[in-house]
Amino acid sequence: MSRGLFITGAGTGLGKTLVTSTLAWQLVRSGLVVTPLKPVVSGFSAADPESDPAVLLRSVGLAPTPAELDAIAPWRFKAALSPERAARLEGRTIRFAEVVAFCRTAVESDSDRVLIEGAGGVMSPIDGARTMLDLIAQVGLPTILVVGTYLGSLSHALTALKVLDVARTPIRAIVISDSVDGVGLTEAAKTLGMLAPPAIEIVTLPRLTGTERDKWEHAPDLTRLCEPRP
Ligand SMILES: Nc1ncnc2c1ncn2[C@@H]1O[C@H](COP(=O)(O)OP(=O)(O)OP(=O)(O)O)[C@@H](O)[C@H]1O
Ligand SMILES: [Mg+2]
Repeated sequence: MSRGLFITGAGTGLGKTLVTSTLAWQLVRSGLVVTPLKPVVSGFSAADPESDPAVLLRSVGLAPTPAELDAIAPWRFKAALSPERAARLEGRTIRFAEVVAFCRTAVESDSDRVLIEGAGGVMSPIDGARTMLDLIAQVGLPTILVVGTYLGSLSHALTALKVLDVARTPIRAIVISDSVDGVGLTEAAKTLGMLAPPAIEIVTLPRLTGTERDKWEHAPDLTRLCEPRP
């Protein structure tokens, strides 16, 4: 049985892959065997070296071969739309129970850490009845909520926190990843510190520059997020 986290976001494109790949890279550097998963991915192209599964595989030293892609991201869709709609465009339906079983099998494996990146935001639709929130609840891992610092991000962050709480999912931390058009990282941390439940750790991720590797190297240490909060 491995220790794991489910990395979700208040919306899409806020930094889930950056957080997941950074954490995976840091854990591997500390000598652990890490399985990063992106079970459902839309907007996927095998030719794109920047696709989420490709980045996640690189973070643990693997190449995006068809076999590795199948192992970490079996539900891949072309259209950059919600998983439900992207699947429908291909005449497919995502079988929710199979996604849950896939994630649980990884959690039950002997990998030291399993990091599951959701698709889109907390309530991104998976099929006609279920969203990412249902997957998070069924898998049962503590979550990391990634939020931004753009104008309006606090409301999105607090809304996401509220629904995670309604679904009774344990929230380990909020990672505030500074947006390009951010209105203040320190201020966002201060406000969320006042409004979020005190048990939730608030972590700030400044705007990182350089190559993918530079970002992993210069990011703050996130490895403690895999442990229960002291
Ligand atoms: N703090 C940051 N510093 C530098 N770049 C960032 C930061 N946060 C996010 N980015 C960049 O913004 C882009 C979107 O981030 P990322 O891909 O991690 O988002 P995501 O939440 O995984 O998106 P998706 O919903 O598509 O999975 C990426 O190019 C990422 O490197
Ligand atoms: Mg991503």
